[in-house]
Amino acid sequence: MSGLLFAELLLVDADVSSAFTMRTVLQNVGYIVQRAESGQAALDAIHNHAPDLVLLATDLPDMDGYTVARQIRADQRRTFIPIIMLSNANDQDGIAAALNAGADEVLVKPISNAELLMRVRAMLRLKQSTDALADLNATLERKVEERTQALEEAHARLRHAEKLAALGNLAATVAHDINNPLTGILTYLYLMRQDLPEGSKLQKDLELLERQAQLIADLVKKLQSFSRPPRKDKRPVAIRGLIDDILKLIEYDLRKRNISVKCGCEYQLPEVLGAPDQLSEVFMNLIINARDAMQSGGLLEIRAATDEDGMVRVQISDTGPGIAPEIMAHLFEPFHTTKGEHGTGLGLAICYRIIVEEHGGEIRVESQPGQGATFSIRLPVVQ
Ligand SMILES: Nc1ncnc2c1ncn2[C@@H]1O[C@H](COP(=O)(O)OP(=O)(O)OP(=O)(O)O)[C@@H](O)[C@H]1O
Ligand SMILES: [Mg+2]
Repeated sequence: MSGLLFAELLLVDADVSSAFTMRTVLQNVGYIVQRAESGQAALDAIHNHAPDLVLLATDLPDMDGYTVARQIRADQRRTFIPIIMLSNANDQDGIAAALNAGADEVLVKPISNAELLMRVRAMLRLKQSTDALADLNATLERKVEERTQALEEAHARLRHAEKLAALGNLAATVAHDINNPLTGILTYLYLMRQDLPEGSKLQKDLELLERQAQLIADLVKKLQSFSRPPRKDKRPVAIRGLIDDILKLIEYDLRKRNISVKCGCEYQLPEVLGAPDQLSEVFMNLIINARDAMQSGGLLEIRAATDEDGMVRVQISDTGPGIAPEIMAHLFEPFHTTKGEHGTGLGLAICYRIIVEEHGGEIRVESQPGQGATFSIRLPVVQ
């Protein structure tokens, strides 16, 4: 309904002469009036196109006006349609029955033109305010839904941060307790090996032991990096240079595995504010994950560009098998790995910590099973 004028009214009255008079009066002031001669015709018309108001006679050939009113009110989904009941008798019981059936107003025939117009206008105003209220209600409901979702997301992030902190403390303690004896073991293994004749069986055995101990040392380093990434001073960093350096290191390995690399970087990409060693560690982790995912070769794509809000976005995509939903749910939590003894499940937890907690950035992943994965990182730029 666009305002009170041009409102669409449905006049349900079998009485030809009274219907004709009312219709003329209402049309003369600009209302669009449709007429129905029976209860069923009225219900069909409302079903096809809801009018802004119904004028409903109590006596109809197929059913009484009360039944029609009740059926209109029974449809809760529809927006509010005011009903003015047109009664033949001015008896209290009839008026009460009309109101009970859901009518908003009762007019007793004969109805003066002035009264008819006044009541119709009042009812249309009522409809306008009710509709406005319903709109407001819908907007409010939508807003509450949006806020609830935002709150749930914030809560999930908090839970994640708390879990990380608890695990971080544990990891820091374990790493510390292992580190000291391990340094001793590695030093003594090295010294013992030096004293033995070159190529002797014992020397080879010691070499093997040293390699195993080195694996433990690597794990401890990762645990430390996860639990307490050393505070590094931040400075302007050119992302392109970092990525190029990493690619140079890993190029040969990728080629051997039939993985081609495509690197697209926006011209004059702004520098980000970060700790270069930490950021290198993140890109290295993501590239190695992509490499591991492409067991039978594929394409590693790296893009860097500025987002609309000025942050720098780096995307690392692979054409591997993608990430299954059950893994996706715990992707950034520590110790979730599908690589058995070849993975610690710390790589992405470290990335999260460095990007989100240390740099105030964002890290996200998009992946459909069977269609590769894309990790996106957003970092604040140097102001
Ligand atoms: N690009 C990717 N494609 C498919 N799965 C991936 C990808 N990146 C990560 N994953 C999945 O997420 C898991 C966790 O990765 P994360 O880097 O944290 O640990 P990891 O690679 O298993 O071990 P590491 O500590 O050595 O990095 C992986 O085991 C793998 O299942
Ligand atoms: Mg990894």
